Amino acid sequence: MIDLDHNATTPLDARVRAAMIELLGDPSLDGNPSSVHGRGRRARAVVEDARRSVAAAVGAEPLGVTFTSGGTEADALAILGTCRALRQAGRPCALASSKLEHPAVRGAGELLAREGIPQVFVPFDEHGRIEAAAVVETLRAHPEVGLVSLATANNELGNVYDIAGIVAAVRGLPGRELLVHSDAVQAFGKYPVDFAAADLDLMSVSSHKIHGPKGVGALIHRPHLRIDPLWIGGSQERGRRVGTEAVPAIHGFGVAAGLVAAELDQRRAHVAELHAQLLAGLAEVAPGHLRYGDPDRHLGNTALVGFPGCPGELLLMNLDLEGVAVSTGSACNSGKFAASKVLLTLLGEGPGASEALRFSLGKDNSAAEIARVLALLPGIVARVREERGCA
Ligand SMILES: Cc1ncc(COP(=O)(O)O)c(C=O)c1O
Repeated sequence: MIDLDHNATTPLDARVRAAMIELLGDPSLDGNPSSVHGRGRRARAVVEDARRSVAAAVGAEPLGVTFTSGGTEADALAILGTCRALRQAGRPCALASSKLEHPAVRGAGELLAREGIPQVFVPFDEHGRIEAAAVVETLRAHPEVGLVSLATANNELGNVYDIAGIVAAVRGLPGRELLVHSDAVQAFGKYPVDFAAADLDLMSVSSHKIHGPKGVGALIHRPHLRIDPLWIGGSQERGRRVGTEAVPAIHGFGVAAGLVAAELDQRRAHVAELHAQLLAGLAEVAPGHLRYGDPDRHLGNTALVGFPGCPGELLLMNLDLEGVAVSTGSACNSGKFAASKVLLTLLGEGPGASEALRFSLGKDNSAAEIARVLALLPGIVARVREERGCA
């Protein structure tokens, strides 16, 4: 299979798999990290090693890494956990976010709204760009806001946002003490991410987007920030995320994060070459295609491409029959055929949002794979257009 759907998930790195298998094969590491006996302490050491590895890879302190079940839970914990805590402290607690955010962030905002905590949205331009000045203007008009949540990179467009610039502008607002969260789930592993340098309060990351196992992620935060847990019943993760830790998955995440720290530059250079090959090839083999997103600040692995007259789902199915995996939008759309949510937001109702494919490249793709996809596309596009009577 040619995997051009890395924004949905990334294959488990063979080195991560080996490390996890080694751990799973060692009964002495099979303890509960909260147990005080030796087996428990050894499991605890595994978790703390992983915490240090994730912290180092994202420029955070180990005390500011709370393991979760993934990016969705990290987003929910960041947004629900801090807005609820702000409300309890009698501080402004509304959420400022954008309509381009991942459903995990949008969903947390909806849950807040059900609790009577309002949400306001910052504007974006036709390429999905969000400028610091627009964020500041929104915040000036909304003194009720206590938390700003904006992604570091958009999962469908591949846009990268100037989070450090946005945070600096937000911090410059007189008389306001705002918290800033960024969903860095798509950025981490594909783009340099530095929590401390960006001066963020909270940041979400996920293991399966960096060639680690699924079902684990982390909320990165200032070490002593008050975050209400989503549920109670234990004291793990300093009470922020209670429940026995998923030690093997956390271990795999730590190994994957260490590999990102060591290999990011090399991975980016490789993917950038393939991305350039894909874009140059598309210009040749798919005249009239549309390219969405910010052409200047982007992840370097993602191309959200419109094929006017061609339903994305038919293109996807035809590519799938040839052994090529792509998607029509976010991973949440991958299991069912639905128009790209981000394009619906950007373009409004109309065929555009359902006539797009997202290609997202990864470290293990090759030039030969890109060439193969480019060779397949003209025939598939022509066939789909013919079937739809739009040739
Ligand atoms: C930007 C973004 N945030 C959050 C998530 C959810 O992460 P997870 O799949 O680990 O729950 C995703 C996954 O697609 C994502 O792209």
